[in-house]
Amino acid sequence: MYILGIETSCDETSAAVIDTSFNVYSNVVASQVEIHSQYGGVVPEIASRNHILKIYPVVKEAISKSGLSLSDIGVIAVTTRPGLMGSLLVGVTFANGLAFATGKKIIGVNHIEGHLAAIRLSGDKLVPPFIGMVVSGGHTNIYEVKRWGEYSQVGTTLDDAAGEAFDKVARVLGFGYPGGPEIEKHARKGDENAVKFPVVMPDRADVSFSGLKTFVIDYIRKNPVNNETDRCNLAASFQLAVARTLFDKALYASRLTGIERILLSGGVAFNSYIRKYFSDSCAGHGLEIFFPDKQYCTDNAAMIASASVRRVTENSFDDLFSLSASPYGEL
Ligand code: KG4
Ligand code: ZN
Repeated sequence: MYILGIETSCDETSAAVIDTSFNVYSNVVASQVEIHSQYGGVVPEIASRNHILKIYPVVKEAISKSGLSLSDIGVIAVTTRPGLMGSLLVGVTFANGLAFATGKKIIGVNHIEGHLAAIRLSGDKLVPPFIGMVVSGGHTNIYEVKRWGEYSQVGTTLDDAAGEAFDKVARVLGFGYPGGPEIEKHARKGDENAVKFPVVMPDRADVSFSGLKTFVIDYIRKNPVNNETDRCNLAASFQLAVARTLFDKALYASRLTGIERILLSGGVAFNSYIRKYFSDSCAGHGLEIFFPDKQYCTDNAAMIASASVRRVTENSFDDLFSLSASPYGEL
């Protein structure tokens, strides 16, 4: 069975074709980063207008690159929640229309479950139960994944997501948008021990990345950044604080549940420094760590199709006319 995944929850228009054994035939991602970077962040109205322009060519390209044809596709899996309402509506409406016109089955997917299911595209080597951390621009949630489809939230951010903190600190340091890759790049030239930022809310399941961001902004106010060395040192010190804070949550969740396998996913899991920090720290604490392939960490449609596989195998599809978008939606 071939699945066409569609993702438009934020500022990436993406379509992918996979099968129920998690083989990926295509995964096309049209990023709007260049458009939004001039505003320093995603402008929802502009995002939805660009999804409208991109959705048809992106889906067409995904099918063509897969080497299959539309008639080979059995199921359409589309992100329905959570995300920007205007952006989600483009994907959901397109998927509904395509399913109606072709008689294909449809499944609405929670974007956060998509980030967790991204790991299944790397050979399905991580089997529940495990601790699933979704760390992105929109979310910082920690789940006990009891089985695929059964998630219990252990902790969350009380305010900003970790990726959002990367983006905001990057802006204060004068870097471009999105801030995560910029901070990672500059941090390579900096000293991570230059400034010791604290682990905010240590030894708790929840976290406050706005708190960490405020520490950094206060520090910069008192110690103005004068040169490139200062900027790189602050980037490195902040990145280390994020890594320490996230690992503190992983350790807490592991102790709470007795589960020793950790998954780190979402856009922030793209960060090589954080991946290494987690690998080293997990090894030091007898924990096993898993990351999706980097291409499946940031928003993409292959992970959405991946999340739908459990529903396909259970023969559990959605009613075409009841499927709608929602900005909310915890797991
Ligand atoms: O998962 P994603 O593509 O979208 C959401 O669901 O939010 O994550 C985007 C977030 C942005 O905040 C971006 O700054 C962050 O992931 N990000 C990174 C890196 N690449 C992307 N954060 C840290 N280091 C990176 N290399
Ligand atoms: Zn995402």
